[in-house]
Amino acid sequence: MLKVAVLVSGGGTNLQAVIDAIRDGGITDAKITLVISNNAGVKALDRAASAGIRSMVLSPKDYPDRAAFNAALLGTLKEEAPDLVVLAGFLVAIPPEVVLAFPGRIINIHPSLIPAFCGKGYYGLKVHEAALARGVKLTGATVHFVDEGTDTGPILLQKAVEVHENDTPETLQRRVMEEAEWVILPAAIDLIARGAVTVENGKVRIRQ
Ligand code: GRF
Repeated sequence: MLKVAVLVSGGGTNLQAVIDAIRDGGITDAKITLVISNNAGVKALDRAASAGIRSMVLSPKDYPDRAAFNAALLGTLKEEAPDLVVLAGFLVAIPPEVVLAFPGRIINIHPSLIPAFCGKGYYGLKVHEAALARGVKLTGATVHFVDEGTDTGPILLQKAVEVHENDTPETLQRRVMEEAEWVILPAAIDLIARGAVTVENGKVRIRQ
């Protein structure tokens, strides 16, 4: 049984997709045992509660400095000891000490086809604003392993989504979430739960 901790910041639609996939058998042999949000009162926490999943708020605002927050996040995750940490719309930088404590065991969902429109400053609607500004015909989402960089770890799954001429950042974000994020994040966790994923020389290999 893959023990999963999910880190969220807001709406939690990706968390919900994972909850639903575990319930419906789209993800085999995995269980979300903890949801951590850096924001209180967000819908992601309601989604966790409705699914009977333990949750907590860990906010940098509640600590004297970032180093203290980073230590609290590391301590919490070490105590929970998940097999996999999933960043699902989590908007706080993951400290290097957490990456080092969970090598190859942290994944992130990013709402573009990395290496396009990613890295510092590219999150949420900003990603889709940049895609529309560039005039790309295809965008999508990427699940990647987290390393010390921002959106730079080995790519696990990607799914393309067509950009429509009348798209706004909001309509594009919604379609990328519906058609890509909510599909490949559960699929990625299922592959990991089934032991089908290895990383060799920075490249992901999937044994179907
Ligand atoms: C969305 O912008 C999504 O593209 C990205 O994180 C944001 C919030 O997602 N992955 P969620 O609804 O909180 O899962």
